[in-house]
This record gives sequence, C-alpha cells and structure tokens, in this order.
Amino acid sequence: MPTDLIIGNWKMHKGLVTEALALTEALISLPLFPEREVAIAPPFTVLFPVAERLRHGKSQIKLSAQNVHSEAQGAYTGEISATMLAHVGCSLVLVGHSERRILFSESDEFINRKLLAVIAAGMRAVLCVGETLQERERGQELQVVRGQIEKGLAGVSPIVARAGVVIAYEPIWAIGTGKTAFPRAAQEMHAFIKERLTVMYGLSVANAIRILYGGSVKPENIRELMEMPDINGVLVGGASLELESFRKIICY
Ligand code: PGA
Repeated sequence: MPTDLIIGNWKMHKGLVTEALALTEALISLPLFPEREVAIAPPFTVLFPVAERLRHGKSQIKLSAQNVHSEAQGAYTGEISATMLAHVGCSLVLVGHSERRILFSESDEFINRKLLAVIAAGMRAVLCVGETLQERERGQELQVVRGQIEKGLAGVSPIVARAGVVIAYEPIWAIGTGKTAFPRAAQEMHAFIKERLTVMYGLSVANAIRILYGGSVKPENIRELMEMPDINGVLVGGASLELESFRKIICY
C-alpha cells in the first residue's frame, strides 16, 4: 500500500508572507511520521518564501499549488503555468477543485489539460472530484464521479498514472459545511473510484494511486476516516489553517 498523503489546502488564506511563514515554521518543527506524506498548498503569492523556508528547514513537508493553467506560456493574463510552479518548488498541484469547477466554470476538458501539463512538468496532479448535494439526492453521484475521473484522466497512460496522479474525493456538500460524509459513505465512493481505476489501469496501478477524502476533515473525524480501507489520505481546508488542528490531523 502507498503511504498516506495529507494535504492542507489554505485556499485564499495566509497569503501574507509573515503569516504564511509563521505557520510554515511551526509545521516544520512538528515530528512527522515516516509512513505519512504531508503537503501544504498556500496561495501563489507565498509559494516562493514558503518553499525557501521548507528547504532551509530541511523539511519533509511538500509544497503544492492550488491551481494552474494548462498552457506553458502565452497571453493568459493573470495565469500561472506548471513550469513556473515546478520552478518555484512545487511537487504537487490541485486540479479541478470544486471551487474552481463551480465558481470559475472549469470544464472536465480544461481540467484534463491542466492535469497533463502538471505531469509533463514533473509534478503530481491531485485530481479533485465530487458530487453536489442535488446530484446525490438524485442518485447520480456514481455517474458524476465516474465522468469526472474518466474525463480528467483522458490520455494518461498506466505508467504516468502510477507516478503522477492522486485522486481527491470531495463531496461538495461536505466542503466547509461541517458535514463530513460518514466514513462508510466515503468508503463506498472510494471503493467505486478504485474499481474504475482498476478498469482503466489494472489492479497494480489502481493500488498505487492514492485516493484522498476531503470535506470538513477535522481532528475529531480523522481517525475514523483513515480506518477505511480505501481512504489513503485527506485534503484538509479549514482545519489546516490552525497549527493545533492540522497537527492533530497529521499526527492522528
Ligand atoms: P474543508 O475544505 O476541509 O474546509 O471542508 C476542503 C477542501 O475544499 O479541500
């Protein structure tokens, strides 16, 4: 089994250099379990100073970006390319977060191009998928997630998927709402995702691709979630902004 992966997604918080470095410094001093990989995803403006601090502190904590553009360069005002992120020290990039899909109308096709760009730049892509409450109430959640996985991973070979892809299942109704999916319900979806990955890539590759859960992960529910056989880590928003709550999650 792959090591568990825990990513703190700071979203549009802690974007001032002083506050970002204060949290980074505190995280560097925490003892990390070797069987757990930890990453933080700060806003673009602080990626460079945070990367420097992690390097100087010889920290095992990895740096992730929250978003990327699919093109390498060009007239895309306000955008940032995968090469730029790799250059600044990122080794992971989130693609297709539901806030990007919903608030910025990102399509599965665009997300797929981003994912391919991230991998081509030598980083790992964290493909975020998940259904809305309405879709779940209509019983469409499996179909929705299946479509997001298949379209998001179009053109990705088994060998590339093994090394470069992480999936994050984040039911949209559980993000920032305090409503976590019951571990068993999350497990059901994770098992379904694993089954789809097995169909696409074979069991050995599917076993190597980590499937994270996201949506109101907290110190109080981390253990129960991580006990599920197909949950290989978590993507944490709100609870990653405070040292104490993130510490309890990474050291559960
Ligand atoms: P949350 O966010 O932990 O605050 O629910 C998770 C996410 O959006 O990645």
